[in-house]
Amino acid sequence: MIALTGAELKSGKSAYMFKGYVEETPRRKGVMRAMEAKLIEILRDKGIKKIDLLVDADNLEGRSTWKALGYKTIRETMRKYI
Ligand SMILES: CC(C)(COP(=O)(O)OP(=O)(O)OC[C@H]1O[C@@H](n2cnc3c(N)ncnc32)[C@H](O)[C@@H]1OP(=O)(O)O)[C@@H](O)C(=O)NCCC(=O)NCCS
Repeated sequence: MIALTGAELKSGKSAYMFKGYVEETPRRKGVMRAMEAKLIEILRDKGIKKIDLLVDADNLEGRSTWKALGYKTIRETMRKYI
């Protein structure tokens, strides 16, 4: 295994993307870019119009990747330790 991703179909025309992972050695070679493009192709064929994913605020690698692939932040989760 060098990389992993996938999505769950939700009600309506949306899907939820599982966390993507690419092993360290082959990173920054376009593996996730290619896998995400294939995933989008499969989802479009199923009539899906929208894909959501969750990423931790401190995961700069993840955030940069999804941003580069066209994802926009639409909501932020806030937390306070008590
Ligand atoms: C996030 C992850 C899946 C990216 O996979 P990848 O195959 O290395 O990504 P790609 O090579 O397809 O990168 C696509 C674009 O994303 C951006 N990007 C990817 N990694 C980046 C980094 N470390 N810093 C800045 N931008 C980055 C770049 O714009 C890149 O395009 P470019 O290389 O032409 O500049 C991989 O780094 C990973 O598995 N990280 C650990 C797990 C993780 O955090 N997953 C996300 C959880 S939400």
